[in-house]
Amino acid sequence: MKITDTGDLWWKNAVIYCLDVETYQDSDGDGTGDLTGLAQRIDHLAELGVTCLWLMPFYPTADRDDGYDVTDHYGVDPRLGTHGDLVELIRTARDRGIRVIADLVVNHTSDKHPWFKAARRSKDNPFRDYYVWRSEPPPDTSEEVVFPDQESSIWELDEQTGEYYLHRFYRHQPDLNVANPKVRDEIVKAIGFWLELGLSGFRVDAVPFFMETLGAAESEAEQFGDPHDHLRAIRSFISRRAGSAVLLGEVNLPYEEQLEYFGDGQGDELTMMFDFIGNQAMYLALARRDAGPLVDALRARPEIPPDAQWATFVRNHDELTLDKLSTEERDEVFAAFGAQDEHQLYGRGLRRRLPPMLDGDPRRMRLVYSLLFALPGTPTLFYGEEIGMGENLDVPGRLAVRTPMQWSADRHAGFSPAAPSRLPSPLTTGGFGPEHVNVADQRRDPDSLLTFVRTLVARYRESPELGWAPVEVLEQPHGSVLALWSEVDGEAVVTLHNLGPDAVVVPVDLTRAPGCERLADLLGEGQVEVDRDVVDVTLEGYGYRWLRVVTARSRRLP
Ligand code: GLC
Repeated sequence: MKITDTGDLWWKNAVIYCLDVETYQDSDGDGTGDLTGLAQRIDHLAELGVTCLWLMPFYPTADRDDGYDVTDHYGVDPRLGTHGDLVELIRTARDRGIRVIADLVVNHTSDKHPWFKAARRSKDNPFRDYYVWRSEPPPDTSEEVVFPDQESSIWELDEQTGEYYLHRFYRHQPDLNVANPKVRDEIVKAIGFWLELGLSGFRVDAVPFFMETLGAAESEAEQFGDPHDHLRAIRSFISRRAGSAVLLGEVNLPYEEQLEYFGDGQGDELTMMFDFIGNQAMYLALARRDAGPLVDALRARPEIPPDAQWATFVRNHDELTLDKLSTEERDEVFAAFGAQDEHQLYGRGLRRRLPPMLDGDPRRMRLVYSLLFALPGTPTLFYGEEIGMGENLDVPGRLAVRTPMQWSADRHAGFSPAAPSRLPSPLTTGGFGPEHVNVADQRRDPDSLLTFVRTLVARYRESPELGWAPVEVLEQPHGSVLALWSEVDGEAVVTLHNLGPDAVVVPVDLTRAPGCERLADLLGEGQVEVDRDVVDVTLEGYGYRWLRVVTARSRRLP
C-alpha cells in the first residue's frame, strides 16, 4: 500500500461521524437543530479529525420514526433548512477535508408519501404497484416483526381497498416494491440527485429488506431476477456518476451472508458494511473481561474484496442489538451493562450509551475507544461519544440515546435557547448531563476524553495499516488481552488491549519483524527497547498500548 492509496480508497481508513441535524445545533432559536447550526460546528468535527460526516435522514418526513419515514426523497425537511443550506454545509465540510454521506431510506416510505397516498386510493391506481399488496389474509408473522413492542404482523389491512400491504418496520412505513422497475428507476434517480448536490455516498438503510421480493407478483419477481443484481446496478450507477462515492450498508447478518452483499468476491455491491457481529462480540468480551469472544469474531471475519471495508462502531443511533448472541450470552451482557427493564429494548438490545454502561469508569471508556480505533476497519462514531455523553432513559425507546448534543454547561447545553417544550428531545440529566459532560470544558483540557479521542483519531489516520491490515491475532498467554499485529507492506503496529482489571506483562514475539529497533508508543511518551526476539510489554488493568514497529526501513513517523 502506498500512502497515496489512502486518498484514493479514502473509506478504508476514514473516521466516520454520525449525527442527526435535528439534535446537533440550533442556529435560529426555534428549538430544532438545523443545517446552518451544523455548519457552525464543522470545526469541532474538523478538530476531532472526522473525515466523513454521516447525516441521519434530513428529508421531509411524517416524523414517526425520527426521519426514517420519508415523505419526499428529493426534499430537505424545512425545519432543518433548505437545499441551499445543505450545499453550503457540504462545501464547508469539504474545505475542512470532510466528505458528507447521508442515509438512503428506500426499503419503505412514510404512509404520508404521495406515492402511498395515491396507491391506497384504488387497486388500479398507477402507484398501486409501487408497494406490495396481498388480498388474502396473511399468515402469522409475529416472529418476523422488527419492533415487537409496537407491531404483531408485517402486513397491515388497508380498510379502503380491503387488501394488505407489506411493512417490515412500523405499519406507517409501507415497503416499496423493488420488483417494479419504476420503483428502481425512482431510487437511482434520487441517488443521482443527491450525488449531484455533492454527497459522497450513502449509509444504506435496512439493505436485506430493501432487496427482497416477498409478496411481489410472481411474474414481476421472476423478471426482477437475482436481488443482488439490483444492488449491483445501484453500485454501478453510483460509480458512473461519482467514482469515489460509497455505499455503507446496514446488513445485520452472519458474516458469510454479509459476504454476498460485498458482491461475493467481486466487490461490485456495497463498499462497506457495519461489523455487527464484531460489535456484539466486543460487548460480550467486555462483560466477561475476556478477549476470547472478540478474538473468535475477528478470526471468523471472512476475507472481503480488496477495495471493500468493515465499519466498526461502539454505539449507533438504534438500540445496541445483541440479537446475534445466544440467549445465555445476551443475558451476560444484560447483567453487566443493563440489568434493569428500562435499559432493555425488544428483548434483544440495550438503549444506553457506553459511559453509563461502564458506570462512567474512565479507564474502561478509554480502553473501548482505543480498541475501536485499533480494530481493522473504519471507525464510526455516534455524536457525543467523543465527550462521553450518556442517555436519558425517560425518553422513550431508541430515542433515549438521541438527546441533543452537549456543547456547554449553558442553558440546554448550548444546543438551543428555545423553551424546553420546543426541543426535539429533553437533554440528558444527572452525572452525564451537560453540567458535567460538554465540549466547552473538554476542548481545552489535555486530560479530557475529547482530547484522548482526538489523539486516537490522529494516530489512527497516520497509521493506515490499522484500518487496512488483515486481522492477525498474536498468541500470548493472557485471556483478558487482545493483541493484534497490523501490518501492510512491511509497516506494522502492535496494539494491545487488556479487558481485565489486573496488570499483565504481555510477551510480544518480534521474530516476524527482523531489524526491529524499538517499539514506539503511539499514544504516549514511552517506547519499548528491543534487545531480544520476544519483548515484554506491561499493561495496566484495563490498559492499552499502540506500538509502532520501528525499523531502519520504516517510512512512518515513529
Ligand atoms: C434502520 C434504522 C432505524 C430505522 C429503521 C427503519 O434499522 O437504523 O433507525 O428505524 O431502519 O427505517
